[in-house]
Amino acid sequence: MARGAIKFLHQGAVVELSQVGPNETLLDYLRLRRSLNGTKEGCAEGDCGACTVAVGTLRDGNLIYKPVNACIQLLGMIDGKELVTVEDLATGHDDLHPVQDAMLRHHGSQCGFCTPGIVMSLFTLYHDKGVADRQAVNDCLAGNLCRCTGYRPIVDAGRDACGGMADDRFSARYTTTVDQLTALDDGADLFMGDETSFFAAPATMDSLADLYARHPDAVIVAGATDVGLWITKQLRQLPKIIHLGRVAGLAEIRTTDRGYHIGAGASYAQAEEVLVSIDPDLGEVLRRIGSKQVRAAGTVGGNIANGSPIGDTPPALIVLGAELHLRQGDGTRSMALEDYFVEYGGQDRGPGEFVTGIDVPRLAADEAFRCYKITKRFDQDISAVLGAFKFTIADGRIMDARVAFGGMAATPKRGAATEAALIGLALSDEDAWAAARDALAEDYAPIDDMRASAVYRLQTAQALLIKALHEVGGRDSAAMRVIGVRHGEAAHAP
Ligand SMILES: Cc1cc2nc3c(=O)[nH]c(=O)nc-3n(C[C@H](O)[C@H](O)[C@H](O)COP(=O)(O)OP(=O)(O)OC[C@H]3O[C@@H](n4cnc5c(N)ncnc54)[C@H](O)[C@@H]3O)c2cc1C
Ligand code: FES
Ligand code: FES
Repeated sequence: MARGAIKFLHQGAVVELSQVGPNETLLDYLRLRRSLNGTKEGCAEGDCGACTVAVGTLRDGNLIYKPVNACIQLLGMIDGKELVTVEDLATGHDDLHPVQDAMLRHHGSQCGFCTPGIVMSLFTLYHDKGVADRQAVNDCLAGNLCRCTGYRPIVDAGRDACGGMADDRFSARYTTTVDQLTALDDGADLFMGDETSFFAAPATMDSLADLYARHPDAVIVAGATDVGLWITKQLRQLPKIIHLGRVAGLAEIRTTDRGYHIGAGASYAQAEEVLVSIDPDLGEVLRRIGSKQVRAAGTVGGNIANGSPIGDTPPALIVLGAELHLRQGDGTRSMALEDYFVEYGGQDRGPGEFVTGIDVPRLAADEAFRCYKITKRFDQDISAVLGAFKFTIADGRIMDARVAFGGMAATPKRGAATEAALIGLALSDEDAWAAARDALAEDYAPIDDMRASAVYRLQTAQALLIKALHEVGGRDSAAMRVIGVRHGEAAHAP
């Protein structure tokens, strides 16, 4: 029997709501239904961070707080979680939360519009138990835009308040919160609505497969960092929503014989923890996807399933030889990731079929990997070009090559002519690299759009290939990077 209401924790009590529209956002719920207007609406598309709230979830029995953009989070997605908004931090003017107190002392606010979102992002860092050096605070705030204060005082406040043991009302009631969240995890399917319009969150893979088979016209939602914008920006009505966030096992990440299995429901933040161990460049690309808020909600599964030609993970996963797993009803199948992308807007996925996960192999000892994301802004920006390369090397020669680009074609795409031109190349023979560089023009005919011209894209792709060859050939990679981490080199001064 499915449950007909969402239940979540707010201000220490369980909130139960049965009247939840499939397209209702968490931000609208807070501002319009609850008059909790501290959480602001700026862009309504996940970019500015003014709507940031903290969401508490249990992972392996531990309570963790992540920042979430309430504007593109559907209300139903909050089921089973703890919601913390800016109103919940201070009990009065004389009892500010340590993060608010630091913002005050460091003069971190002027007009104040961004401040609730910044405070909530820093609240999650405060509870993170990790270091709070400049890099960590910058990373934490990459999804929070402030147009008037300037970031120095805000970053100072973050460094001052965060990085120690959390000591606030939330840490004081940690055990109670864990118990309450454990009790909310009832393992029941959630279904609110009727056969024509609903928000559903199945609890098992079987119920997901069954529900989607019966409603192949439903929209699957993992993190809603794409789908949320269909609602807030394209003003689309999506009558049937199937959310993946409660499906047991779908967010699982596990080690396999060859590497890692990443469940389709695993967030970028979860996947980043293991994928960085395959190669630092992969970790760096993941760190530069959107912001902390986007990475807390968005999934690698969604990045693949949406088939975007400018998704960041597919080119890198394609060159690594990743394998995609899908399910439709009782049937399952697997394919090389590159075969999934058929044409612009078209993927090899049938009605009622969904992605269950992806297997990503580790690198062999004789393989070298490089991956570069080129954007107009360093953080929180979509790629103009993303290039990924894997070379198998013996005695200074490339014995095998896999090359893939995003932003260079209608789909994420391998470059067959370039790969052929690379095989047999001596890394020491720089003159011979030109043939491989020129072959990129055979493989790709990039488009012109607002992000980059076709000429820029092609020249950038060629430059990235040469850069990869230099780095793999032994050039000091620190000299090749403006910023970013490679093989443990520190990128920023603390
Ligand atoms: C501010 C902002 C910044 C962003 N920055 C980047 C960036 O730097 N790089 C980048 O690549 N992307 C970026 N994105 C886009 C987005 O975050 C990614 O595409 C993300 O991976 C989508 O994952 P999701 O779980 O949120 O997908 P959702 O929005 O939930 O779904 C996306 C699509 O995939 C389908 N889908 C999801 N999961 C499955 C599944 N298991 N099976 C079948 N279909 C499924 C949905 O039906 C939908 O069509 C950004 C988005 C925002 C809002
Ligand atoms: S309102 Fe800008 S991120 Fe939500
Ligand atoms: S204080 Fe005005 S936008 Fe940040």
